[in-house]
Amino acid sequence: MNYCIANWKMNKTIKESYNFLDDLKKKNLQSTKSKIILCPSFVSLKSLSDELKGSSIELGAQNVHQKTSGPYTGETSVDMLREFECEWVILGHSERRQYFLEEDVIVNDKMNTVIENDLKPILCVGENQSQRDNHETFSVLESQLSKALSGINKNAKMLIAYEPVWAIGTGISASCDQIDEVANWINEFLLQEFSIKVPILYGGSVTSSNCGSMIGLENISGFLIGTSSLDIKEFSSIFSIVNER
Ligand code: PGA
Repeated sequence: MNYCIANWKMNKTIKESYNFLDDLKKKNLQSTKSKIILCPSFVSLKSLSDELKGSSIELGAQNVHQKTSGPYTGETSVDMLREFECEWVILGHSERRQYFLEEDVIVNDKMNTVIENDLKPILCVGENQSQRDNHETFSVLESQLSKALSGINKNAKMLIAYEPVWAIGTGISASCDQIDEVANWINEFLLQEFSIKVPILYGGSVTSSNCGSMIGLENISGFLIGTSSLDIKEFSSIFSIVNER
């Protein structure tokens, strides 16, 4: 199975989200080989969930709180997400790490809460530019993965997205060689350290022009897509290319 995941971040109102889904459904992109997961803002989850009934398109949230309820003003719980038939949750995105100070220990708490409550995490990991320049990519990934996956149920269904911070929203994606090297390393690391095999996605300036060669890589099972997921034409082109593999 390959995945095309739309991370809309803080974009699209309820109406815009609804219109996008309407256009997407008209394109009739159903497939047994590839899956679309839409991750809109929290406020759009309900209307998309209503519209998605009976559809093969799945729903994800961009975040969730690590506690299941309580005095956490402004936060959203796993139960609230499940009520929307939201199956997936993006965790550890570099924007959450950078702007909301989500450290690895918080990402780990969220991973455990999400898994214990029958949701599926999409765990994001990746190095920043200076870490890559200093040849620290693999030590950063090792640290992020070890901490995020500590104590998790090994039978849990999840996805891991390799998202180099320097490629996110910059228009400069990682090269196929770089993605291949890292995806192979993550695959091997997870097998050796955790005895798990997890589908690995790539994220960071994915477009319909660059995704064709990336999806051919041995350990890449799809994409986490930001900017290109906001445009229906671009997003459906990416899906079609992924689905052809
Ligand atoms: P981008 O974002 O496609 O705009 O680079 C990817 C992401 O942040 O998940």
